[in-house]
Parts: sequence; C-alpha cells; structure tokens
Amino acid sequence: MVHKKTAVIGDPIDHSLSPKIHNHWIKQLGIDSHDYQKINVKKEIFTREVDRLIKDGYSGLNVTVPLKEDAYKYCDRTSNVARALKAVNTLIVREDGVYGENTDPTGFQNSITKRNLNTQRCLVLGAGGSARAVVYALKQMKCEIGIFNRTKKKAEALCGDLDVEATILTESLLNKFVGSASLVVNTTSLGQKKGEENNLINFNNLKLSTHVYDLIYNPSKTTFLQHAEKRGCTAQNGLEMLVNQAAQSFKIWHNKTPVIDENLMQILRAK
Ligand code: ATR
Repeated sequence: MVHKKTAVIGDPIDHSLSPKIHNHWIKQLGIDSHDYQKINVKKEIFTREVDRLIKDGYSGLNVTVPLKEDAYKYCDRTSNVARALKAVNTLIVREDGVYGENTDPTGFQNSITKRNLNTQRCLVLGAGGSARAVVYALKQMKCEIGIFNRTKKKAEALCGDLDVEATILTESLLNKFVGSASLVVNTTSLGQKKGEENNLINFNNLKLSTHVYDLIYNPSKTTFLQHAEKRGCTAQNGLEMLVNQAAQSFKIWHNKTPVIDENLMQILRAK
C-alpha cells in the first residue's frame, strides 16, 4: 500500500490551518496517508516546484494565494468550476495527468446552507479571487446579487467572466442595497490587519435580520463583524468556508467524507 502524500502550497504558508484540518480527518478516518504538509512555493518557480513535488510522490495538493491561477494553467484537465473561475485550489495527480478542481464555491455554499440562512438578496463586497468563488456559488443558489468594489471595472469583469446578472453598485446605490440585503459578504482584504477598519457599508442601514459574513477568519472577529453584531445582526467569519472547502478536497483525494466535528472547530478557533 502506497501511503498518500498531500500538502498545501502557497506563499506565505506558515499561517495555514489546512494541516490541522486534514491531519485531524486523516486520524479520524484512519486513512493510510502521510501527515499533510505545508510547503512554501514561490510564484516565479511554480511549475518547477510542483513538478518536483509530484516526482517526490505527492498525489494531492491544495493551492492557496497567490498560486491558484498558476495551478489552473498547470493542469492537464480541469473541472467546470475551475474553468469558470480560471483558478484551481485542488490538484489531483492521476496516471493520465494532473486534474484541477476548485472547491471554494462549494465550501462557501455549504457554510451557508448548513446555517439555513435567507439568501434571497445578497451583497458581495469586493471583486477579487474570493469574490469570484462566492458569486459563482450565489449564482448556483439562484440569489439576487449586488456587487460593490472599489474598482468598478473589476466587478464588471467578474460578472462578464462568470456570466452572472448582478447589480453593480456605485457608492451612492450601495447603502440602499444594504438596507434590503438578507446576506452581506465581505470578500475584500480590509480588516485582515488587526484593528483595521472596514467601513465600506453603513451598518445602521442593515436590517436586524441580515446575516453578515466576513471571509476573513484571522482575526477571528474583524471590526466589520463587530459593527454588524453591535447593530444586532448575526455574524460569521470565514472559518466554516475554509473547513468546508477542505472537506471537499479531502473527499476527492481519499474517497471518504470527513466529519466537521465541534472538536475540530474548537481546535481551529483556539489558533
Ligand atoms: P482575494 O484572492 O483574497 O480575493 P484579491 O484578488 O487581491 O484577493 O482581491 C482583494 C479585494 O479586496 C479586491 O476586491 C480589492 O479591491 P480592488 O479590486 O479595488 O483592488 C479589495 N480591497 C483591497 N484593499 C481594499 C481597500 N483598502 N479598500 C477597498 N477594497 C479593498
């Protein structure tokens, strides 16, 4: 029996929680596998490094910032989702070549559906890589979507590339949309630095029934989520999306469905 070798690659990678998640499940399910590793890979030498890892026996790799587009180009074949996003977060090494999948949209969707939220009218802040995964999922969920981004052109490009009919919001229209949204998702990097303010929306405009989601999970409660809670809204950080996208990668590699247990969530929250 060949023990599977899996890892996450990115730059920086030290902060990654993926090894904690995957190694928890490897143990939980008694999988014949080496410990899941984290490996720093520089963008400039992506192809050479991934070639080397595959030669070294790695058969599954998660890919994180800033390498997801490089991973997409590297693959011999890709899934529909990966092609839509032109980004890959999961590499599967098979005998006939390398297959690329993107589990981010499902990760986001599962993190929402498990909470049974009202997703009728959704506001997405940002138009970068993670916004694409979120908007792709919201389109599958048939939500009405509004997008606000500092650079409006990028929001337009996102809608064109994903073939999504969304309202692209200007600053003057944004807070009207805020007042009617059932879900607000921050996908921008604002708030990643501890204490950094994200004042893109007027929190007083939020309905109290609105669910506010920030994809950032470190810090665990951004000022964005703090403002939302102060307003009386429910709030969620990006940890559940992280775990749910990991669960799908794990299932693809090991053909077993892992359990997202409270014990695992506690381990991750304690980080
Ligand atoms: P990711 O892969 O995490 O989505 P990204 O593709 O670099 O990262 O996207 C970052 C997002 O955060 C973008 O929407 C960016 O807005 P621009 O498209 O205008 O650059 C947004 N963002 C970053 N810093 C911001 C700031 N100070 N104010 C508003 N938006 C910001």
